[in-house]
Amino acid sequence: MNNNTNNPSNSNTPSTASGTVASFSPGLEGVVACKTRLSHVDGAGGKLVLAGHNAITLAENNTIEEVWFLLHEGRLPNAAELHAFRNRIESLGQMPADEINLVKKLRGAEPLSAFRTALSAIANKRGYKPWLGRPAKEAIDEIMALCALAPAIVEVLHTGRRPRLKKDNAGYAERYLWGVTGKKPTKDDVRAVETYLILTMDHGLNASTFASRVAASTGADVGAAITSGIGTLSGPLHGGAPGPVLDMLDSIASPDQADAWVRAQLAGGTRLMGFGHRIYRTDDPRSMCLKRVAERQNGPRIELAKVTEQTCLNVLAEKQSQRAAAEGKAVRALRVNVEFWTAVVLEHVGIPRQLFSSTFCASRIIGWGEHIAEQIQDNKLFRPLSTYTGDMPAE
Ligand SMILES: CC(C)(COP(=O)(O)OP(=O)(O)OC[C@H]1O[C@@H](n2cnc3c(N)ncnc32)[C@H](O)[C@@H]1OP(=O)(O)O)[C@@H](O)C(=O)NCCC(=O)NCCS
Repeated sequence: MNNNTNNPSNSNTPSTASGTVASFSPGLEGVVACKTRLSHVDGAGGKLVLAGHNAITLAENNTIEEVWFLLHEGRLPNAAELHAFRNRIESLGQMPADEINLVKKLRGAEPLSAFRTALSAIANKRGYKPWLGRPAKEAIDEIMALCALAPAIVEVLHTGRRPRLKKDNAGYAERYLWGVTGKKPTKDDVRAVETYLILTMDHGLNASTFASRVAASTGADVGAAITSGIGTLSGPLHGGAPGPVLDMLDSIASPDQADAWVRAQLAGGTRLMGFGHRIYRTDDPRSMCLKRVAERQNGPRIELAKVTEQTCLNVLAEKQSQRAAAEGKAVRALRVNVEFWTAVVLEHVGIPRQLFSSTFCASRIIGWGEHIAEQIQDNKLFRPLSTYTGDMPAE
């Protein structure tokens, strides 16, 4: 076993082209890898900023098209601009018959894998080429066209139906929910989904956004860059937790079982889904916002969810303080993240749990698209270093 890993004086320690010795940060924790004007996550203060605006204020007061326009243009639209943007998204969101047939072939597969494959197949069918060497506007139009298709892709995959061309002038959020449930949703349900979609649209350089930007940085076609983002969502550590959160609530079943269940899971080394975050060291503001939505919905799960949340927080705090005492150092607080209350809100509006990751994808795809556009307009190939831990050849 070679023990070179952490020794900066070893000859196989990585160095940059300028000869500077690079340091290793597992999971790139604390590493700044790009500049963006799109979003800022203030982990210590528990705040999320979307292009100069408080994300919670946007989620509570604006439509998804307004926030999409904000990310795209750097400012909120006036009424005429919003009207034009909404129409553009709606018309780009209509899937031609040959693409519907292509997507239908993927029905029956795991929903997120099918979404990933569908998007990739459509980009391929449309003949999207590497963006490098072409006008940026062409690639940015392709991004918009792919992102706008998300509600239709999920509807075709889930129902096998041909999406109706017009849905009573419904916006993106309403079309999404209508497509999944098959019936015109109530205003409250649309508002709940729209709040969720805005809250999760963009969130700094998270794993999927990073994956999209890395792919885009090679000059790849925008379909490949978005597909890279979707690929990362199949893991429960990023975007896959809301389904397991409902499984947890099902298993706990009644508030008096919560404490014993949570302790047993932690004792068995299982992570509690919907808790912990790489960046937030305090409450995730998106979670607090969605908790307010869940309280307004006041569905059958609400009491169980509140008790489970509090129990998880108590038991995690107890474990973390025991750990701090044993290790003689401060350990990070584990708070509730966006995925816990997402599960309660999305279940209440009738989205089945197997579509939770696809629903996240229908939101974050907008953020990926804007990040890819940003990358295209100021590109530098991502190419980090690695520390070689194998043996060196005998000289
Ligand atoms: C989100 C997450 C991946 C962030 O993790 P991270 O910043 O990489 O932190 P680590 O995975 O290094 O965790 C640090 C410690 O806290 C513990 N921890 C973190 N989240 C935990 C959780 N949800 N339940 C129990 N313990 C947890 C880890 O076990 C780890 O302890 P260890 O060093 O003994 O292994 C992590 O908190 C997690 O797995 N949460 C559950 C999944 C989830 O909700 N994902 C959605 C995120 S929005």
